[in-house]
Order: sequence, then structure tokens, then C-alpha cells
Amino acid sequence: MDRRDFIKNACTAACACAFVGVSTFLQSCEDNIDDDYNSNTGGGTIVDGDPDGDQDDDYQLVVDIGSAPHTALQQINGTSSLGSNSIDGLGLLLVRSSSSRIKAFSRRCTHASYSVNAFNSQGRAVCGSGHGGSFNLNGGVVNGPPSSSLRSYSTSLDGNLLTITK
Ligand code: FES
Repeated sequence: MDRRDFIKNACTAACACAFVGVSTFLQSCEDNIDDDYNSNTGGGTIVDGDPDGDQDDDYQLVVDIGSAPHTALQQINGTSSLGSNSIDGLGLLLVRSSSSRIKAFSRRCTHASYSVNAFNSQGRAVCGSGHGGSFNLNGGVVNGPPSSSLRSYSTSLDGNLLTITK
């Protein structure tokens, strides 16, 4: 092998190694991309990021109450919850209040913004902070220190499809 062939072979090997390294790097970067970044539903389906077209940050989220984990909402006083989503970053508490209405409340505690747990079997949503706050099925304060109700969102129900609007 003369000097020219040696340099040529060495460059080819170096390029091959660099290609493998770059491919591996790009693959690892791709693996870190959060595919859910723009589809944050918390268990619902976003139907429109701007339903009234006014360029505000309003959203509609549709939840099928005929499917798990929301089937408890078929019964009056049945409850369910959603995780972080595009309507509320801490998620939502859902309560069937009548045959035609399901209420949606923010899980953001009105005391110091900790996340409120899902409703328990006594119909209480206890704040996860450990401060002692809890809320009833109407979003009202049962135990302080919170002094105001949970934020509520407008909803509509069409068959099994619950639409929550912000
Ligand atoms: S943040 Fe909920 S009781 Fe304090």
C-alpha cells in the first residue's frame, strides 16, 4: 500500500466512524423529543385550539364518558378526573351533577396552587399539599386553608361526549 492509498483508506474509515457517531447522536436526540408536546390532552381529545377563532388561548377538550376511565360519569354524582392538559396544566375534576350536566373544575388548589387529588368515595377532593384543604362535588371549600372554590370550566354534554371549553 503506497502512501496515497493509506491516506485514502484512513479517510474512508474516519468518515465511516463519523457517520455512525452522528447517526447515533441524532437518534438519541430524536428519542428525547416529546411527541406529546403539542397534543397535551390529559386523557381527552383536543378538537380545536381556538374554537371561536378569536386568537385567544382557548381550547375545547372532548372526553368520551362511555369509555374507561370515565364511565362513572354515567351516574349522577359519579366522578372522574383528567391529568395535565391544554385547558388546565394541573388537570381537571369531573362530576356528573344532573342527567344533562357534568361539571369540570380545575385541580389547582386555590390556597397555594398545589394539585388537588381526584374525588374520594366521600365526594371530597383533598389537596395534595398536606395543608389540609379539601373541596366538595360543587368545587366549594370543605376544609381550609383555601378560602375560595375551585375554578370551573364551561361544559356541554352530547350523548357520551363531554366537551370542556376554556
Ligand atoms: S395548597 Fe391546597 S391546601 Fe394549601
